[in-house]
Amino acid sequence: MSNSFTLTNISQLVTNNSAIGDGDLGVITNAAITVTDGIVSWVGQASEADSSIPKTDVGGRSLIPGFVDSHSHLMFAGDRSEEFAARMAGVPYSAGGIKVTTEATRSASDDQLRNVARGLIEEMHESGTTTVEIKSGYGLDVATEERSVRIAAELTDEVTFLGAHVVSPEFSSDADGYVDLVIGEMLNACAPHSSWIDVFCDRGAFTTAQSRRILEAGIAKNLKPRIHLNQLEQGDGIAMAIELDCASADHLTYLTDADINALAASNTVAGLVPGADFSTRAPQYPRGRDLLDAGAVVALSPDCNPGSSFTTNMPLMIALAVREMHMTVDEALFAATMGGAISLRRDDVGHLSIGAKADFALLNAPSYIHLAYRPGVPLISTTWKDGNVIFTKGDLA
Ligand code: NIG
Ligand code: FE
Repeated sequence: MSNSFTLTNISQLVTNNSAIGDGDLGVITNAAITVTDGIVSWVGQASEADSSIPKTDVGGRSLIPGFVDSHSHLMFAGDRSEEFAARMAGVPYSAGGIKVTTEATRSASDDQLRNVARGLIEEMHESGTTTVEIKSGYGLDVATEERSVRIAAELTDEVTFLGAHVVSPEFSSDADGYVDLVIGEMLNACAPHSSWIDVFCDRGAFTTAQSRRILEAGIAKNLKPRIHLNQLEQGDGIAMAIELDCASADHLTYLTDADINALAASNTVAGLVPGADFSTRAPQYPRGRDLLDAGAVVALSPDCNPGSSFTTNMPLMIALAVREMHMTVDEALFAATMGGAISLRRDDVGHLSIGAKADFALLNAPSYIHLAYRPGVPLISTTWKDGNVIFTKGDLA
């Protein structure tokens, strides 16, 4: 027997489908949504909902698609709060901090790693995120990278092997030797648990040539490529990322006009992670406005990790995108939902068309604009994934 329910009295329902509502966000006002067996089965005017299906009145709040977080580093142990404090006192950020987390991650048990990641996923549910990609990358040896992707696969379908986060301490004077390990024994151990391969192509991490070797090896193992690029300096990796059909190129704090035009003409999503620019006090934010004006697809993510951006909060990214990258509220919300879905090459999440997964978040606000208008305020009332409540505070439990 099928299991249906309707949420009604939704002041603004953001569908991200311009064919069924207003604007690019496809907004339906005074709306209702019906879910059947975990899938959106109907959306429309509240007055037109099927009266035989049980209804819950959400009291004039707004409903948005669950956020799709396409970039997170949740497989780690340890704490780098002192590094953050030192940074705010003037010490510059560098990729080298990753090695501090590597020590703690190698010594952690499977259960400790699992519990850290679970706790952070719970935080994500509290701020409206319903899909998350999780990267390895703090093990930097075969055993710990394998444990990282294996445990991540218990927690999400979107697992990324990032053995090439930085060169491991054991190979500090032999980066190419470490690349050989990553694309050999480590990839063999990690590929069965992963869908994606990633590399940190930047100052202090891997060169463009090394990054190409790593991504090509992953592709040969049927992993789909994505890349960390141009966080710390203006590199030359954009053309390679596009040539290899990376689903997304992330960070992009430094971009030339030519890079922007190349991304706009490609299938590679520009994954912007303004939490990292915020928490590392980068000299500038990525050129979000210019990317959108050129026609690029933009995704937003908190880039949750213990070093450069220890936050899971997508609404904060929306506020930063609007305030600091001159994106409109509509563009930022789209980037945090559909942008993330496109970056993960998913068509079943990030929107609320009929047939989509019933993943959505109810805001304690009459308008989705409050996501940027009320920065830092926990506006999420209830979050559903596959039609099930995964977080609630207030009166809908
Ligand atoms: O996405 N850029 C590379 N990796 C992480 C930071 C890693 C760390 O500092 O622990 C990031 O910002
Ligand atoms: Fe990252």
